[in-house]
Amino acid sequence: MARVTLVDVFKHRITQKYLQRSGIHHAVTVAGYAYDLALEASVSPDLATKSALLHDMGHYEWYLDGKWDYEEYRKHDIHAIKGAERAHKLLIRLGEDRLVAKEVSLAVLLHTDSYLPFSLSGKRTSLQDVVAEADRKDEQPNGLHHYNKMSPSSAIKNLSVLDKKITDYYENNIEAE
Ligand SMILES: [Fe+2]
Repeated sequence: MARVTLVDVFKHRITQKYLQRSGIHHAVTVAGYAYDLALEASVSPDLATKSALLHDMGHYEWYLDGKWDYEEYRKHDIHAIKGAERAHKLLIRLGEDRLVAKEVSLAVLLHTDSYLPFSLSGKRTSLQDVVAEADRKDEQPNGLHHYNKMSPSSAIKNLSVLDKKITDYYENNIEAE
């Protein structure tokens, strides 16, 4: 079965609908960090980059009377839960392997613990750690990282480069076995 690529994931209408809210720039940047961190941690770069690309797709519009209230948003936020469900649905529709879809969904669910009554530190798998760390690397105060701009065509260009690196990674690893 051909791999579902990051570009396939990005172009799907579910991704297009939900990724705009939290920002394409943040999603693509975090996917790039996740690739590097995955290699360092011997985690699957396919799983890590897909999880990273989709980690914030559960965000809803956070404007209140035309003005964004970050504190108010955080208080009610369950974006990781909604994102986990959306990411799973999207990947299944794209024909993704069910175990991959589940792993990605869990990494999205656990990329933050800001909505939980307990800390996840020390409890995440290596994949989940990679995604959480990649997200932290792009974080700016008051959620400003969600406002950096990237055009869809630049996103596709960047994701194609990542897809190529991932394909090469698996080809080289199979040869080495
Ligand atoms: Fe994020």
